[in-house]
Amino acid sequence: MNKLYFVAIFLLGILSMIGMSVSAENATQKVFQGSPVINSPVIVGNYPSTPFLFYIPTSGERPMKWSAVKLPKGLNLDTETGIISGTVTAKGDYTVTLKAKNTQGVCERKLIIRIGDELLLTPPMGWNSWNTFGRHLTEELVLQTADAMIANGMRDLGYSYINIDDFWQLPERGIDGHLQIDRTKFPRGIKYVADYLHERGFKLGIYSDAADRTCGGVCGSYGYEEVDAKDFASWGVDLLKYDYCNAPAGRVEAMERYAKMGKALRATNRSIVFSICEWGQREPWKWAKQVGGQLWRVSGDIGDVWYRDANHIGGLRGILNILEINAPLGEYAGPAGWNDPDMLVVGIGGKSMSIGYESEGCNQEQYNSHFILWCMMASPLLCGNDVRNMNDSTLHVLLDAGLIAINQDVLGRQAERSIRSDYYDIWVKPLADGRKAIACFNRMSSPQTVVLNDKTVAGLAFEQIYSLDNRLMQNNGDSKELIVKLAPYQCKAYIFGKTK
Ligand code: GLA
Repeated sequence: MNKLYFVAIFLLGILSMIGMSVSAENATQKVFQGSPVINSPVIVGNYPSTPFLFYIPTSGERPMKWSAVKLPKGLNLDTETGIISGTVTAKGDYTVTLKAKNTQGVCERKLIIRIGDELLLTPPMGWNSWNTFGRHLTEELVLQTADAMIANGMRDLGYSYINIDDFWQLPERGIDGHLQIDRTKFPRGIKYVADYLHERGFKLGIYSDAADRTCGGVCGSYGYEEVDAKDFASWGVDLLKYDYCNAPAGRVEAMERYAKMGKALRATNRSIVFSICEWGQREPWKWAKQVGGQLWRVSGDIGDVWYRDANHIGGLRGILNILEINAPLGEYAGPAGWNDPDMLVVGIGGKSMSIGYESEGCNQEQYNSHFILWCMMASPLLCGNDVRNMNDSTLHVLLDAGLIAINQDVLGRQAERSIRSDYYDIWVKPLADGRKAIACFNRMSSPQTVVLNDKTVAGLAFEQIYSLDNRLMQNNGDSKELIVKLAPYQCKAYIFGKTK
């Protein structure tokens, strides 16, 4: 009996391992199958006379060969790797025709390279160390993350930033006046990591704080903005997340501290994105752009949790709570300035070394909805899970090209909520081609039915309804209604209207 039991458990273990790895390949395999598709973004911004770097995210079978027509002077494309790099001095919009070719076919797509005063013309996509690893980040983790994002298809869906959060630095500033890298974690320094990422078409993000100490209690940048900004630039940093722990409460002081760092970053010889992280307490959506920010947190930290009631003791917010905070802020978001409802928790599954202590995890439907809603809200898509070890369900969510295209739509509009009933929401995001992305979202633990018609969303073109992969789903004829059935916590998205 005992023996049989162990044999059964052993076999089950093997089966589930095979099952996991076979299915874990599926979402990734989809990325690397068939003829080429050049994915978003299709517009990128960079400052003049600063290094430009862009990997052309492309799905399709490998090997792949890229080419580009009308690249501005100063830029080169490596046709084997798909990485465009160089420096452009003259401001302007450069429309480049990109081509990707494999044995299955060819794909052509226009890319606008805007050399000017704006960065992040579409929401940033990438990964950040905090939500899963907290203080336990290392060079090895960051490099392995980059390798994993190439192998699992994330890089080809547009994920480009790899962001180191708190705890890369030592508690004390060096006697030379510079921030000190924690060499037990980053033995070869930050520049080594940046070079590794850039060679693979990724960008590197780093973290500091507008006070003497960061939230984790290591050294911050207050009073050393120029020194630190120059160091970041010399290492090859592409984004700075600037936190606000241990800093004065007032809005004016906050604006001053952020403006100082914003100016210092802008004065470097790099295009460094400035991510403002004061948790929405001083309404940064009203002033963050003014101080040089391209994105600003609207809330306290996200937990790997669906909902927290108001009486909950502790810092972390649920996905639903943050949704409510971000919902009314749509008018402030747009190209080069995004509301940031915090990093994704998709796939963390309660396994976090930083936020895990008070986060129980979410179910798969909740993670799906979290991703769809963040896409609809034109939110940054910064994954917070361990992307080196993902199951297929998580990969399916993070590699959803249709949803990502909605997130990266060049119009850059945050979805507005047209209906908030006691049980469900309807969200509407106008797209650049004149169509509308619609999401029906069930907030409840029981099934719901949502009716889309002129009463719930005004002015929808019902004749043509598309699934997110742009397949015509329904030719509705004369009917001016769509009935959407939703499972508990489910969110379903569509595109309404004709392509021009
Ligand atoms: C704050 C931020 C988080 C994270 C931690 C690091 O809480 O809001 O996103 O950066 O600090 O200590």
